[in-house]
Amino acid sequence: MKVHIFDTTLRDGEQVPGCKLNTREKVEIALRLEALGVDIIEAGFPISSPGDFQSVREISSVLRDVVVCGLSRAVLKDIETAAAALKTARRPRIHTGIGTSDFHIKSKFNSTREEILDRAVQCVRWARNFTDDVEFYAEDAGRTENEYLARVIEAVIRAGATVVNIPDTTGYCLPWQYGEKIAFLKNNVPNIDRAIISCHCHNDLGLATANSIAGIAAGARQIECTINGLGERAGNTSLEEVVMVIRQHHALGFSTGVDPKQLNPISQLVSETMRMPVQPNKAIVGANAFSHSSGIHQDGFLKDAQTYEIIAPEEVGADSSKIVLTARSGRSALAYRFRKLGHDFSRDEVDVLYEKFLAVADARREVRDEDLLKMVEEVYEVDRVYQHESSTQ
Ligand code: KIV
Ligand code: ZN
Repeated sequence: MKVHIFDTTLRDGEQVPGCKLNTREKVEIALRLEALGVDIIEAGFPISSPGDFQSVREISSVLRDVVVCGLSRAVLKDIETAAAALKTARRPRIHTGIGTSDFHIKSKFNSTREEILDRAVQCVRWARNFTDDVEFYAEDAGRTENEYLARVIEAVIRAGATVVNIPDTTGYCLPWQYGEKIAFLKNNVPNIDRAIISCHCHNDLGLATANSIAGIAAGARQIECTINGLGERAGNTSLEEVVMVIRQHHALGFSTGVDPKQLNPISQLVSETMRMPVQPNKAIVGANAFSHSSGIHQDGFLKDAQTYEIIAPEEVGADSSKIVLTARSGRSALAYRFRKLGHDFSRDEVDVLYEKFLAVADARREVRDEDLLKMVEEVYEVDRVYQHESSTQ
């Protein structure tokens, strides 16, 4: 079963302070996202600024295959502006919606559930005047009472929404709660089969990927995500993680159109363009995602990579796995690294070098190739001098 990948790097991802992109940068990333194989690109929030309007407009005119989406609030002017920015898109989608949790209804809108339900229906109707592809978001659905959420979702589908987005805006849900919410909608919204359910999870508790997977397991068919998990606060679901969970766990029965080989290159492009470094231990795209540094792991990895790697780095376009030498490394890693440097030492020779290695490693964070070559020189220079002296005595 195909899961649609809705990339929102250029909208939710770009909301991160310091990550703002200009139109040229946005177009470059959009073209790479299209080549990556995502199904929908949320290109921006056109009413938010003239620059963002222009970016959505240019992205709409250069992309050929993917759906191009523009965000709006449940406000007529927003929707008209999104429609204008998407005018040249071959496959335009308007993403409109409103907060449905009591926090939003009371504190943000000072309104009532009935009024919000009417506004939800109204915004979908407005959007349908411009395109047949309308996605409705129920902001803070994660904390919205399920019965009320089901009423809103039924009404917006009746009004013409083709995709219904169930955001866990504050990253609050536990995976089974989010899964149960999607299952509740599947079982209690009579017209749910006329729309695709979408997961939009934030990462405030580090659960965004788990929640999105729980969502598709319960019947959702679209995941909203960003490259490197960028997004408001602690970020959104990370695209590379959900794509690889789906690939690794065939038994779930899902697939995506994403080419995994492009994951690391696009991660680097986004990180550089948005000036947002990727944490080294980030799954799939972090600098240490394929590094092995402890002796036990290195020994197992060198015997059979699959003992400590569930994904081959080439599969996701990363550099080959790394054996990092630290004070926690063992003899087999040291011997392996010497072999790479052209020295095939015997066991006894490695034993001698290992003592020296530990002394250096305890003083440093990482032992590099030049340190190893220096050790070899020192050990063999001592040997040579010793042999020379004993032959002249
Ligand atoms: O997190 C959220 O609820 C959103 C909506 C605007 C879709 O980003
Ligand atoms: Zn969001």
